[in-house]
Amino acid sequence: MIELSKLKILYPEEEIDKIVNELADEITSFYKPITDEIMAICILKGSIHFYSDLLKRLDMNVRYNFVHVSSYAGERSTGKIRVKTWVDESLTGRHVLLVEDIVDTGNTLRYITNYIWKQKPATVKLVSLFEKTVHDHGVNIDFVGEKIGDKFIIGYGLDYDELYRNLPYVGYVEAEEK
Ligand code: IMP
Ligand code: MG
Repeated sequence: MIELSKLKILYPEEEIDKIVNELADEITSFYKPITDEIMAICILKGSIHFYSDLLKRLDMNVRYNFVHVSSYAGERSTGKIRVKTWVDESLTGRHVLLVEDIVDTGNTLRYITNYIWKQKPATVKLVSLFEKTVHDHGVNIDFVGEKIGDKFIIGYGLDYDELYRNLPYVGYVEAEEK
């Protein structure tokens, strides 16, 4: 468990709002000359709030789809990706936008993009609200909200052992203060 009274707020609600708005504008301008319809894939569960907020602000037709994968236990990536739910529509010829909450080792996105390309989509782009810059994860994220260091963050969809996803802000606790 995390002692919420010791939580340091990294991004309050209003700031997350601003970041999401900027990403939505950037993504809308990017697709305008290419297509008027995309398939946005939510990477569950962490991306749930980001996905919902971002898509409402995109000025184009958006098809919704979901994949559910997990790789984390507590604060660390286990390195093993488990797929629990996969997309339920054909991606062939679609403009796919993968929506992720945070990229750390890059394993999750690497795994998912590999499979998605096998279904012959027209394009695949990645958006992540946060990117950890401690690892050279080798994944090209097309749209990044904020780069953060080696912090384990919670809130706005991000969990610690399945809790705290519903916090409206993003925060962290220093290791020795948990
Ligand atoms: P990766 O596969 O190592 O890039 O890890 C990505 C996944 O791990 C993300 O989709 C998150 O669900 C989870 N994750 C990574 N860092 C954090 C964090 O700081 N807080 C909560 N979840 C995280
Ligand atoms: Mg996630």
